[in-house]
Amino acid sequence: MSNELEFRLTLYPTPILRKRAKEVGAFDDALKATVESMYALMFESRGVGLAAPQVGLDQRILVLNDAGDADKPEQNLTLINPTIVAREGDKTLHEEGCLSFPGIYGEIERPDRCTVEAFDVDGNPMRREFEGFVSRIIQHEYDHLEGILLVDRLSPADKLRNRHALQELVDNFRAARA
Ligand code: CO
Repeated sequence: MSNELEFRLTLYPTPILRKRAKEVGAFDDALKATVESMYALMFESRGVGLAAPQVGLDQRILVLNDAGDADKPEQNLTLINPTIVAREGDKTLHEEGCLSFPGIYGEIERPDRCTVEAFDVDGNPMRREFEGFVSRIIQHEYDHLEGILLVDRLSPADKLRNRHALQELVDNFRAARA
């Protein structure tokens, strides 16, 4: 499927990734087109989740598919203006990456379950509890809407292990701006 909007991934340390994203105001065709293009880029990039700031948009939009598979659209989950209203359960460690930090991974600790209030792309409110991998993806992507990034959650050991890749991202960003 071709898309009218051509998004590109916003990489660390682009400043928009550090902003608290703004609420979506209108559930219109433009929002639907944005969501479609975000899914297209997420699948193309072999991700399982994507937040609007990662395509340069200052909006509270998340898309995810825990199978990372465009042929499993029943796994798609679109969250507009989401709020995580509860985080519960045992804290678990799991390796996470991020499309804005290519090649960088770390073991991140998060509670197993979260309860989310959000709207779907048509503006219908929802409240659902998630657990396991989907819950982890939601918590990771929700961080993006708050300006919190993978690098903030890396352990000191993982930060040290990834220091060259992190520095390369910073160098590339500066070079592109020079
Ligand atoms: Co991310």
